[in-house]
Amino acid sequence: MSLLQLQAVHKHFGATRVLEDVSLNIEAGERHAIIGPNGAGKSTLFDLVSGRHRASSGHIVFRGRAIDTLPPHEIARLGLARSFQISSLFPRLSAFENLRCALLRPQGFGLSMTRLLPRASRLNACADALLEEIGLAARRDVLAGALSYAEQRTLELGLALASGAELILLDEPVAGMNRREAEQAIALIRRVTQGKTLLLVEHDMGAVFELADRISVLAGGRVIATGTPTQIRANPQVQQAYLGSAMTEDTPHA
Ligand SMILES: Nc1ncnc2c1ncn2[C@@H]1O[C@H](COP(=O)(O)OP(=O)(O)O)[C@@H](O)[C@H]1O
Ligand SMILES: [Mg+2]
Repeated sequence: MSLLQLQAVHKHFGATRVLEDVSLNIEAGERHAIIGPNGAGKSTLFDLVSGRHRASSGHIVFRGRAIDTLPPHEIARLGLARSFQISSLFPRLSAFENLRCALLRPQGFGLSMTRLLPRASRLNACADALLEEIGLAARRDVLAGALSYAEQRTLELGLALASGAELILLDEPVAGMNRREAEQAIALIRRVTQGKTLLLVEHDMGAVFELADRISVLAGGRVIATGTPTQIRANPQVQQAYLGSAMTEDTPHA
């Protein structure tokens, strides 16, 4: 069974229909990208999966369990992490401390200090290992708010990893980065999502074609195609949705 299933999902805000009859299967272990023009409903789709908004109708099933009525923290606890905005960082804590907080979360907030203290050294070691993994070891004690933009996005990815999530949702992870930073971020995302499942929204077609095993195209609130990068690039309907312009790998980075 697929790790994540969207079954005939509809979402409207008042009279605005944003998603219509969206059905998607995300398989365990795949890297799946959602692409589509601005306003297509990509972020809304993430909002539904992560529990930020409720679907107007349809079902969302994660690991065999319907999650479409669960609040975000319960969905997160089931093993789904969404990383999408800098505001998930604590700017006045160091990179190391941010990761330590994120590592505590899956163990629950209810731990008493007496039970927590013996674990502190293990926690520190985990946070340091994560810093190493995401390439921020040299920035360990820098306040998150003082990190560069690209470093903050990298740290966010670290937070998602710290949660131990099986499914990671990334909304435009290379947006706002220059080409070199984007390339580093893509390589990092590829490396750290090995053995996990990635659901990605991204405008940068270079990043999408480099990262994704499969791509779904959202246009006008509907999934108009799902397939391998090669299939998607060759799909006339998709080319039309993009007016034939953005489907090459060497699209200049914004
Ligand atoms: N909370 C909201 N209330 C009303 N309309 C919304 C809300 N969130 C998104 N929308 C609308 O839904 C459409 C899709 O938005 P979004 O999912 O952000 O698109 P994308 O991420 O593909 O650019 C847009 O027309 C947007 O204005
Ligand atoms: Mg968006």
